[in-house]
Amino acid sequence: MTAYVTEFSVRDRARDLSRVEAFIELNSFERPTLVLDTDVVTDNFHALQAGLGHARIHYAVKANPAPEIIDTLVALGSHFDAASRGEIELCLSRGAPASHISFGNTVKRASDIAFAHRAGVTLFAADSDEELAKIAAHAPGAQVYIRLIVEASEADWPLSRKFGCDRAMALELLDRAVDLGLEPVGFSFHVGSQTRRASMWAPTLDEVAGTWEAARAAGHDLHLLNIGGGFPAFYGEVIEAPTPYAASVISMVRDRFGDVEVMAEPGRGMVANAGAIAAEVMLVSRKSDSDLHRWVYLDIGKFSGLAETIDEAIRYQCATDRDHEATGPCVLAGPSCDSADVLYEKTPVQLPVGLTAGDRVVIRNCGAYTSSYASVGFNGFPPLDVVVL
Ligand SMILES: Cc1ncc(COP(=O)(O)O)c(C=O)c1O
Repeated sequence: MTAYVTEFSVRDRARDLSRVEAFIELNSFERPTLVLDTDVVTDNFHALQAGLGHARIHYAVKANPAPEIIDTLVALGSHFDAASRGEIELCLSRGAPASHISFGNTVKRASDIAFAHRAGVTLFAADSDEELAKIAAHAPGAQVYIRLIVEASEADWPLSRKFGCDRAMALELLDRAVDLGLEPVGFSFHVGSQTRRASMWAPTLDEVAGTWEAARAAGHDLHLLNIGGGFPAFYGEVIEAPTPYAASVISMVRDRFGDVEVMAEPGRGMVANAGAIAAEVMLVSRKSDSDLHRWVYLDIGKFSGLAETIDEAIRYQCATDRDHEATGPCVLAGPSCDSADVLYEKTPVQLPVGLTAGDRVVIRNCGAYTSSYASVGFNGFPPLDVVVL
């Protein structure tokens, strides 16, 4: 195991570096490394909870399953949204009570439903007849919420059509759940990940409120609204701070749904700003003498943690030791022998013109959806390492 320097010098504090960036500055890394600060997770939990009021937080484990993050959130009394048996086992192994875990994936293996039921998990998501039948068979009597499809998303990373069902089907599924001996308790939706402004939630909440009313009119006594994730992180574009953002969302929810039980599943908003990646420039080159753009190849790419650069959807902020120098546009790419492994080309990145192989690049605010996306070793490059402060 690598021994790291953890003493943060007065100089680093005076320059107002985050603990994570001060740690990166003081150390060298043999491979791309995500450094996480769980104190930031604690701050985020408190900030989100302050805005969410009585709504219950179920941390979306998929955003970052580092055991230390789960430990931090268990200690804070958080609940958890698990997507798989593996995530349920992780939460249980770190001391989360089964009653604090919901099984939120609408696509579950029957044996995993049975496992969750045996472990004491009682709340499951579904968006189809077949999934309800599986839950009824393997978790008899369970509480279920029906996931609704969200048509209009202004999110930078929309979750769109893959999940949920339309209003008519949702109403049918509530009836079906009752027939199967399940307890339908409410609806869930996801406004889309990285929804930068709270006001962007309004059309989705209007749509869901219409379905909620229709269900109650049809005699279903729903009491749970799962508002999913969507809470944003800072990637360079202006976002609202977590407390006022969450408070605005909850106020819009209360206007439409009254005093219902609300659960929220923040992933990105809980962990993104808790982490930075220490990466390295592997090569700077041009394709011809007249090429206006340099190509900068990093030791991390789409397959080793930066998958959310697909379609350049999430634009990470990079910092280098040369940030005081003149900058110019460059195409940023990963190291693997795969032409899809280009991070930003349509909109090139401004980086220092003096950047050269071996230079450190710090990729900011990438504690979410990076380590959990890294391949096990595409092209023989090791997966993203994780260090928790
Ligand atoms: C069911 C569910 N809940 C919550 C989340 C977390 O979303 P976010 O990271 O935008 O907070 C996701 C993300 O994919 C999800 O699928």
